[in-house]
Amino acid sequence: MKIVAVLYPGGPASAETPELLGCAENALGLRQWVESQGHEMVSISDTGSGLESHLPTTDILIATPFWPAYITRERIEMAPNLRLLLTAGVGSDHFDLAAAAERNITVAEITGSNVVSVAEHVVMQILTLVRNYIPSYFEVIEGGWDIGKVAARSHDLEDKSVGIVGMGRIGQRVAARLKPFDVRTSYFDYRRLSTTEEQTLGARYSQLVPMVRESDVVSINFPLTPATQGFFDRELLYSMKKGAYLVNTARGRIVQTDALVEVMESGHLAGYAGDVWYPQPAPADHAWRKMPNHAMTPHVSGTSLEAQRRYSDGIRGCLESFFADEPIDRDYIIVEGGRVTSPSYAYAYEG
Ligand code: NAI
Repeated sequence: MKIVAVLYPGGPASAETPELLGCAENALGLRQWVESQGHEMVSISDTGSGLESHLPTTDILIATPFWPAYITRERIEMAPNLRLLLTAGVGSDHFDLAAAAERNITVAEITGSNVVSVAEHVVMQILTLVRNYIPSYFEVIEGGWDIGKVAARSHDLEDKSVGIVGMGRIGQRVAARLKPFDVRTSYFDYRRLSTTEEQTLGARYSQLVPMVRESDVVSINFPLTPATQGFFDRELLYSMKKGAYLVNTARGRIVQTDALVEVMESGHLAGYAGDVWYPQPAPADHAWRKMPNHAMTPHVSGTSLEAQRRYSDGIRGCLESFFADEPIDRDYIIVEGGRVTSPSYAYAYEG
């Protein structure tokens, strides 16, 4: 079988840091093993014509959210042998799931592999915004000592209201990590947690729109689906509390690009952070790079070195099962048997 992995370019770090498994040069650390099983492994960073030249002969395609190969319906049609689409990470929106289901292609991702990594990033970015860290850091770099300027936008997180949109694996870990900060946490998810889980996390269930309107900090943690694309539009963004903060580590397209720029430039929100963009890699002139009061990073939260180890192990497990004609771990399955079966996605596809 021919396995094509589309991964980010690691550059010089790929040789200096062998643990950087998620880059094309290091091919998830799987090349030798795949070849020892009698299969071919191609790993590339070219998400355009280079990728398309492989599609007619690809059996298994591995993509990563950090450097997404957007596998559209047209590209699926270019790949007659394709039987398995794997995400090295979590979040499989870069694949056209409906088109994959129609072709009976299995889609799986490495559920849980980087949820701690992302939750830590969310907490870091909430504190970065609320404490006004980035301007304070630049004050140091630029040789200044203007305490008034930076303190005028610096707050305690304690006693602020935090709204978590999507209380799955990441959302719950964000709530758990924020609890010692003595915040007031609410959440929305179409699947409500048990009373015991809510008590343990110190999180109150709420309807989405009232929660977004009332929160000082909102963290977006649900997947990108046809139901959530563009969900944070101009109206919802302006309905947020004046001076609130928004952190999005889910997917860039959940927030409307131009509406966010307008809201940030108006000063309605005090800060925006996250690590997800559309498209990725974000072009040098992407409007979010220069909007005021943001603390964004490139898409790195879910690809710490520890996360790379976990999702590389998970991909190997999926390949082992597939080569042996055995079922892939149920928790990993997004599309199977012609249906979108993952509980986090099925809602939007299967009704
Ligand atoms: P999860 O599947 O454990 O949780 C997602 C939650 O969202 C579920 O509880 C589900 O019921 C809820 N949900 C789905 N659609 C909804 C809707 N329309 N309304 C309300 N709730 C809805 O997923 P996990 O692991 O927490 O990841 C969440 C998302 O975070 C991923 O889908 C991915 O897009 C993103 N992610 C980003 C990473 C990064 O590096 N920035 C890394 C890992 C995930």
